Amino acid sequence: MDDSGVPRLPENPHQPDSRLKSEGDINLSPKRLKWAESFLDEETRAWLERDAKVFLHQSLSTPCLDVLKESSGACFTDLSGRTFLDFHGNNVHQVGYGHPHVIEAITREMQQLPFCPRRFTNIPAILLAEKLAHLAPGDLNKVLFAPGGTSAIGMALKLARAATGRYKTISMWDSFHGASLDAISVGGEEVFRSRIGPLLPGSEHVPPPDAYRCLWGCNGSCNLKCADYIEYVLEKEGDVAAVIAETIRCTPFIPPRDYWKKVREACDRHGTLLILDEIPICLGRTGKMFACEHFEVVPDMLVIGKGLGGGIFPLAALIAREDLDILGDRALAITPMRKSSVGCAAALAALEVIEQEHILEHATRMGEQVLSRLQSMKKEHPLIGDVRGTGLLLGIELVLDRETRQRALDEAEEVLYACLSRGLSFKLTMGNILTLTPPLIISDGEMDHALAIIDVALSEVERQTGDEIRPRSTEMVL
Ligand SMILES: Cc1ncc(COP(=O)(O)O)c(C=O)c1O
Repeated sequence: MDDSGVPRLPENPHQPDSRLKSEGDINLSPKRLKWAESFLDEETRAWLERDAKVFLHQSLSTPCLDVLKESSGACFTDLSGRTFLDFHGNNVHQVGYGHPHVIEAITREMQQLPFCPRRFTNIPAILLAEKLAHLAPGDLNKVLFAPGGTSAIGMALKLARAATGRYKTISMWDSFHGASLDAISVGGEEVFRSRIGPLLPGSEHVPPPDAYRCLWGCNGSCNLKCADYIEYVLEKEGDVAAVIAETIRCTPFIPPRDYWKKVREACDRHGTLLILDEIPICLGRTGKMFACEHFEVVPDMLVIGKGLGGGIFPLAALIAREDLDILGDRALAITPMRKSSVGCAAALAALEVIEQEHILEHATRMGEQVLSRLQSMKKEHPLIGDVRGTGLLLGIELVLDRETRQRALDEAEEVLYACLSRGLSFKLTMGNILTLTPPLIISDGEMDHALAIIDVALSEVERQTGDEIRPRSTEMVL
């Protein structure tokens, strides 16, 4: 701790920085402190101090970056009046901030039926469940709402146990499914899992499908060993209830084309359920309503959330295969908000916006254009090791050397703060991946502006650290 009570980052030379930074840039770094000192005004700092005093500290949130006072469309504005394009938005902002159609639906429902107690239902809830069952692929026809993604993951895990009579799971290292004890058991990030005691028994982990840093050394010519390994573990364990994973990890890993088909078939052979977590990437982020559609695979359960509440209301949903409706005489989850009339009205309105404003087409078209522009930027910037993405789920991986793929951790953080200072917000993943998830309603002009900021920031950091960007043969690639 320093004098202000803010914890300092523990020094551990054996612990690669990227492990703690898997989910996002962390707030205890000297670079963050330096940025705050030069960027924030006195009033903002005073509010941030009050915030830090009253909230429990966490490396991914409090102490916070800045104090916000307004948001609209693709942007938010801070207390001192500076506006930022929001390329993070926790992935709740598919339809942007404060979309008038969503605001109107929420306002109407708040005035009409602000709350629906348990044992009763309401028309927005029924319409939303029907709509999701209609949109979801295959026989995913049964819905349960939750107040957030983590709770929905908990429901999926419980249903998998009840349906199979088994308790083991296979999930991925480096994955995130929420921060509760059950979710971190299947999650694969040290920042949540370490120093917290025993997690759920039977939570097995496998390496994720990571084409850029493939554990099996496929080096771009994927032989799907990563999918074969899942079947190997299913075979060895013999009694796994579910494979649970993010369809596309936001954004380090985009699985190869046939990955999920192979895993699906392996699950079927071993009586194991497939649960796909699309909480941050559902409803158009990847250019399809659900990311599993890219892989032509239907899971047994699909978990969605975040933008489902239209960027305003916390709402998530478990959408399960029809024949998994087996707990009629028991209880899976009972929360006051499980059929929120206001939340469901927000979600229906958000889905209408997605359809009426042709957001899937926009995300696909713009995603393709941006990816090709990022590929051109890669030619100009030695710091860029890889660019990848699907729709408007995009990542730029920064490395010190393209051969060794050594993560450019310091440089990525410098780029982050250089972009923030110029009015672009995004988060880092694994410490070195600029993770870009803009609102799906973003205009061409706003996207041009954001890419120009990234370009300038990369040049600035490359100029400052030019000598560093060269091979370091001793660094492990993985
Ligand atoms: C892939 C994934 N799963 C689950 C969650 C947890 O959702 P929530 O924060 O709504 O509880 C998140 C949140 O970021 C997520 O990204």
